[in-house]
Amino acid sequence: MTLTPVQALAPAAVTGLPADFRWGVATSSYQIEGAAAEDGRTPSIWDTFCRVPGAVHQREHGDVACDHYHRMPEDVELISSLGVDTYRFSLAWPRIQPHGRGPANQKGLDFYKRLADELRAKGITPWITLYHWDLPQELEDAGGWPVRDTAYRFAEYAELAYEALGDRVEHWTTLNEPWCSAMLGYAYGLHAPGRRHFGDGIRAVHHLLLGHGLAAQRIRAAAEAKGNPLELGITLNLGTATPETGSEADLAAVRRADGLGTRIYLDPLVRGVYPADVLADLDQVGARVPVEAGDLDIIATPIDVLGVNFYRGAVFSGVDERGATTDADGVPVTRTVERDLPRTAMDWEITPTELTDLLVRLQRDYALPTVITENGAAFDDTVAADGSVPDADRTAYLRDHIAAVAAARAQGADVRGYFAWSLMDNFEWAYGYDKRFGIVRVDYDTQERTLKDSAKWYRDTIALTRGETNAG
Ligand code: FCB
Repeated sequence: MTLTPVQALAPAAVTGLPADFRWGVATSSYQIEGAAAEDGRTPSIWDTFCRVPGAVHQREHGDVACDHYHRMPEDVELISSLGVDTYRFSLAWPRIQPHGRGPANQKGLDFYKRLADELRAKGITPWITLYHWDLPQELEDAGGWPVRDTAYRFAEYAELAYEALGDRVEHWTTLNEPWCSAMLGYAYGLHAPGRRHFGDGIRAVHHLLLGHGLAAQRIRAAAEAKGNPLELGITLNLGTATPETGSEADLAAVRRADGLGTRIYLDPLVRGVYPADVLADLDQVGARVPVEAGDLDIIATPIDVLGVNFYRGAVFSGVDERGATTDADGVPVTRTVERDLPRTAMDWEITPTELTDLLVRLQRDYALPTVITENGAAFDDTVAADGSVPDADRTAYLRDHIAAVAAARAQGADVRGYFAWSLMDNFEWAYGYDKRFGIVRVDYDTQERTLKDSAKWYRDTIALTRGETNAG
């Protein structure tokens, strides 16, 4: 399927999306809050990692970020002005449980209570992510995610957070993108805590999934005991893996990429098993998933919704540039192949039709209700003389991906919502403030927020799709 290229960026109702489709914007704690040392918050692995020379663009950090901790009521006004019905944000574990264990920090909880209350007062549904990568540093010092105890610490924190906020918040996501936490953080060293040990990365995968399952059980039990409505899930970063050719080597590369990117998470979550081929591949490189008796039943605790973060699909080859199918250690080659496609400022290929493919595949293989919990793009925005931000490239990206969601629904995928990443420009991890994903511009000198053209387009498109005549 090919989507029609953009002629004009005028808002239009997206046909095929129902009036009750969930529309949102998303952020995460470390990327926007700032106030890194206030009200009892302790350092997370990101505070530490940002101080490592060479780890983050220009040694930037989240000490101030968008200063959201101090500007929260205005930011809720801003969200409200977009006409979205849902705001996805994350809780900072080191704000709520500063030592990663033990009692909650009341001031930390109070901030999120106020945030949830402000949102609800404006008719916006709060959607909480418990873990968007800011592990308390003390837990990293005790071994971090490669250590089994961290899963239990996470479950304890989840229960504390739910006890305090479960009366106000119905939508709970345990983890954001465990692939990034495990592989970028522990295997490839590109994200906090910056370790580079493949086996530790795989251990982290299992303990993240175990932590998810334990947290899911405790939250579910607490919600039932209180009679609270609950929609519980996990968010994964997922893509599509397409073979460069039909050769056996390329098909095997796709199988491996899909195995470590998608199936190693979704098979245990949905079916309670790790895929045998993935375990065999891991065995070949001396990595082991540290499963103990009963773990898989915990991990497969039923969820209500799967959060999907989608940025791009990729093409894979099982042959390297010299024509070899294994590397010097005899490990099979799994290589991404660059395509001649338009790209974002992250240098990521723009592949909206692959979002349709992904959602249809998820429906077929895993049959869970899904919500797009993140989708969006960084571009090098310019501010026009009149102060506006004419980001037609971002608007086109959003428009084509929302159309791709509608196309997936037309093919039977049960997709219930779409959240733009991100509400506003923010600290983009190792890229610091260099990459801007917001639909709202942030001037980091003044903390002024300005709706980019994409935000206005999004607002008007939501209104039209809901069938409202006044696009506001
Ligand atoms: C995702 C992260 C999010 C943001 C986007 C661009 O992997 O969940 O925090 O950095 O990428």
